[in-house]
Formats: sequence, C-alpha cells, structure tokens
Amino acid sequence: MSLTLAFDVYGTLIDTHGVVVKLKSLVGDKAVSFSQSWRDKQLEYSFRRGLMGDYQHFGVCTRDALEYTCRVYQIDLSDQDKDSLLACYRSLPVFADVVSSINALKAEGHALYAFSNGHPEAVSGLLGHAGIEQLFIDIISVDELETFKPAPAVYQLFLERTQSDPEETWLISSNPFDVIGAVNVGMKAAWVQRSPEAVFDPWGVEPDLVVSELTDLSGRLPGPR
Ligand code: 2OP
Repeated sequence: MSLTLAFDVYGTLIDTHGVVVKLKSLVGDKAVSFSQSWRDKQLEYSFRRGLMGDYQHFGVCTRDALEYTCRVYQIDLSDQDKDSLLACYRSLPVFADVVSSINALKAEGHALYAFSNGHPEAVSGLLGHAGIEQLFIDIISVDELETFKPAPAVYQLFLERTQSDPEETWLISSNPFDVIGAVNVGMKAAWVQRSPEAVFDPWGVEPDLVVSELTDLSGRLPGPR
C-alpha cells in the first residue's frame, strides 16, 4: 500500500512571508518583523477561536491579525493598503522545492493531499494561483468542523476523508504545532525545518522525520508495502 501524505499549506507549500515585498513599500525596514508578528497573531487567533468555540474562518483570523499588528507597530495603514496586503495573502508564492518534490513523491506511488486551516476556496485559489492545485488529489480543509489545527478532530477528519490509516499517513508540515497535533492522533509526521533557526517545541513529542526542504523527503519515507 502506498502512503497517504497530508501537506500543510501556509508555511510548508506556500511562503507566508511573500507579503514582505508589499510590506516593505508600506512599513519599510519593519517589514520582516511585521510579517512574523502578523503570522504569529494569525495562528494565535486560530488557537483561541478553536478553544473558545468562537469559529471564524482562517481569513478572518488573518484580517484581524493584520489589524492587531498595525496597532502594535502604531502604523496607520489605509483600508486600501490593508486590502492590498490581504490580496497578497491570497496569492502568496510557492516555495521553490514544491513542484519537483511533489512529482518525485507521486512517482513513488504515494497519495498526496493538501491539508489546511484555510477556507477551501481560499486554499484552492492560493494553490491555483501558484500553479500546484492539480498536483494534489484533493484539498482537505478544517473549515467544515469549525475549528482549527491542532484539534484532534481535524486530523481525524483528514483520515476519514482520505480513508487512510494513521500509521500509513504522514503529515508534512513546517509548523511544529501541526506536527505534534498529527502525532497526537497516531499519524506519522515530517517536520520541514525550512530555517536552521526554527525551533521545535520541547514537549518530548518528536517528528518521525526532519528535513530542511521538501525535496529531502523523496526516498526517505517508508516505501509502499
Ligand atoms: C495551515 O495551512 C495554518 O499552516 C497552517 O493549515
């Protein structure tokens, strides 16, 4: 049997810091730190909304996190500028290693899916704009459950929708919270440590594999049985 691979989207397939180019024109040399603060608060809002049971889709978390970050940085962006940044977020760049790594893993006989907090239409638009949507069998979004990663229910939804067994299903993600969430329900997980500075949470839960880029996955996942 081939493996089922769940590819996280934001930060793994798609570079969320693709907004830095636009940010530089608006906030200058604060662009990189602003982008990181925005991403961190976006994820925090998803965690809080999930815990509270006060669901709004991931695009709302992104929009509200942008507003919060503007206030923290005391930068008064116009609605037009905010809209242009959010438009950038809907057309972020794909990482350079994605197409070749996906094709190599498909050639090994694995079943590949995109798996994301993002709203289905947003993820479809994002992957479509990046020219990679067709590489995946389907997009599995947490939206129908009205909660977010790392809630166990979202990984269980993935397993149900793909009719796969946890021990033969690998989450591929650059986000440690996502990796730990998948391992928590019995899935396998590869952490894509895209930066040597990236730190994994000291929870005592480890990924089954660590790679620095997606192309390192080929030949390193357990072969199809
Ligand atoms: C995802 O795409 C937020 O990166 C996370 O689900």
